[in-house]
Amino acid sequence: MKILGLSFSPRTQGNTVVLLNEALGGAREEGAETEIYTVAGKDIKPCDGCWACRETGECHIKDEMQELYAKLLEADGIIFGTPVYFYNMTAQGKTVIDRTIALNKPGRNLANKVGGIVAVAGSFGLVDAVKDLYFYMITRRILPASFIAAYGGGKGEVKNLEKCMKATRELGQEMVQIAAKKFEYPDGGTHIAYGTHTR
Ligand SMILES: Cc1cc2nc3c(=O)[nH]c(=O)nc-3n(C[C@H](O)[C@H](O)[C@H](O)COP(=O)(O)O)c2cc1C
Repeated sequence: MKILGLSFSPRTQGNTVVLLNEALGGAREEGAETEIYTVAGKDIKPCDGCWACRETGECHIKDEMQELYAKLLEADGIIFGTPVYFYNMTAQGKTVIDRTIALNKPGRNLANKVGGIVAVAGSFGLVDAVKDLYFYMITRRILPASFIAAYGGGKGEVKNLEKCMKATRELGQEMVQIAAKKFEYPDGGTHIAYGTHTR
């Protein structure tokens, strides 16, 4: 059982990473192997909309997203961690999310993995970040676990939120407990919107 903590913060020791490490600690207590991956300093380019991945299931952009694809596919559970930047996830996070459109083939997609969320804001905007990550999970058929929404501005400040840290550890435990149930969606994809690009 592998749980991946994915930080969308450009800070390597910031609040998002503090929370992800706590959640991963919880996952280890339940017997999982864990890894944290941060987008900080990574060369991950935006999706260019070429749609070649529709045929191949692979993204033609050969940057550091390629190593992240492998980690995402290997994981049984992914905890998405983001700071709030202008009322939503960071641009780095959205870039990663967009690039996962290339994971679209049987055996090479994110379906049936468990997804958790940790989001941190200085003051305002947590709801949109959390909601958009959940909506993303639905489109990918990721099984949603809980979320943690925390307030903290300075680097690592969330450490002082005692109840938050406890709940975050429990999120990590829950990720493993849900993944252990091995729930699988039926075959087929989600169907999203009709009338414009469909018949
Ligand atoms: C460019 C930028 C935009 C931000 N926008 C918001 C915002 O819209 N709402 C908010 O509450 N905090 C905002 N913040 C504050 C961060 O969400 C906050 O400092 C958070 O703890 C950072 O998490 P990190 O330490 O994991 O990077 C912003 C910070 C930066 C640098």
